[in-house]
Amino acid sequence: MTATKGLEGIVATTSSISSIIDGFLTYRGINIDELAEQASFEEVVYLLWFGKLPNEAELNQLKQDLSGNAAIPAEVISQMKLYPQDSNSMAALRTAISSLALYDAEANDMSRDANVRKAIRLQAQLPTIVAAFARIRQGQEPLEPKQGVSIAHNFLYMLTGNEPDEVAVNALDTALVLHADHELNASTFAARVTVATLSDIYSGITSAIGALKGPLHGGANEAVMAMLEEIGSPEQVDGYIGEQLDNKVKIMGFGHRVYKNGDPRAKHLQKMSRELGELTGNLRWYDMSIKIEEIVTGQKGLKPNVDFYSASVYTSLEIPRDLFTPIFAISRVSGWAAHILEQFENNRLIRPRAEYTGPSNSKYIPLEQRS
Ligand code: ACO
Repeated sequence: MTATKGLEGIVATTSSISSIIDGFLTYRGINIDELAEQASFEEVVYLLWFGKLPNEAELNQLKQDLSGNAAIPAEVISQMKLYPQDSNSMAALRTAISSLALYDAEANDMSRDANVRKAIRLQAQLPTIVAAFARIRQGQEPLEPKQGVSIAHNFLYMLTGNEPDEVAVNALDTALVLHADHELNASTFAARVTVATLSDIYSGITSAIGALKGPLHGGANEAVMAMLEEIGSPEQVDGYIGEQLDNKVKIMGFGHRVYKNGDPRAKHLQKMSRELGELTGNLRWYDMSIKIEEIVTGQKGLKPNVDFYSASVYTSLEIPRDLFTPIFAISRVSGWAAHILEQFENNRLIRPRAEYTGPSNSKYIPLEQRS
């Protein structure tokens, strides 16, 4: 038995949800470029869960179900008020999502219908939790979700208390489309491993949030913004990035396990970053990002991934840096839920082996004889 480090190149399951083939990403066979340019996030949620684009009635029903289930139990809000004010946002999200299960009478109902209803509730409630966390830590009361608006609109409203403008709603909606699913990424794999034991959907999503938090995965978008802030201005980019590369420090937002010729989602976020920078009259983050890309791609051949330009996009939308990864989760919960439903359809326990590299033939030494 020989281990493959990081399971690179290992095909661990079949899936008909999304594919990465020859550098092209599709959701249910539809190229991500078409979806980014034309689809709403709610259409993508339907596509991922039910395998086809919704007709008008199906889309309206899903939107209604999502709006109608967006409120979170008062008990969860009360608990969130007890979280330390400086809690890590992903740790708070992981905790709140886990506790939602305690107030869901269907939490352990394993039927397909109940799991679809729970997927709807999780998709609907996750943005409400992120916005509530952001308000509570500032001493503000969480806002009730609005009815009849999109997830992107509702989230921006619940975060700020103001009606968001159309440009911001559209930009966030596109970002949600781009992040919704990505084959067997680390967090999706974590979700599938968890539910393959026939554990429940809340446990699967909680595992996934834990995996997404790390800076080698979803946490990279926050790390990118931290880097941009540390660099400060386009003039400082050369020196900073040169030094990091010389010291073999990884540049966040670059590289990918699967894409070696570039992440097809990055160009959409780059365009949005420029457009939002122009609109807000602040192109500093975009200009710095372009310069960083030139250096990192030029010197290392590494291309930006989905996390690189999303950092400047969210900053232009005036979203606090530590909510970037929770926003990733607002989107990716759609993909996690799709994979969990798929896993349950044809389940087998996921239990690989390890190549043992420890000592052999060791003997037990009684405590009193140990030095
Ligand atoms: N900056 C500098 N060098 C890099 C980077 C980077 N961002 N990424 C990879 N490399 C180098 C590594 O140092 C390594 O060099 P070496 O062979 O000389 O040691 C080589 O490229 C291979 O890198 P690995 O880390 O082994 O590649 P792996 O496929 O395991 O990792 C990953 C992929 C985690 C995305 C990696 O590129 C990375 O850490 N990137 C920065 C973090 C990041 O942006 N994560 C988000 C990924 S997208 C997502 O999850 C949503």
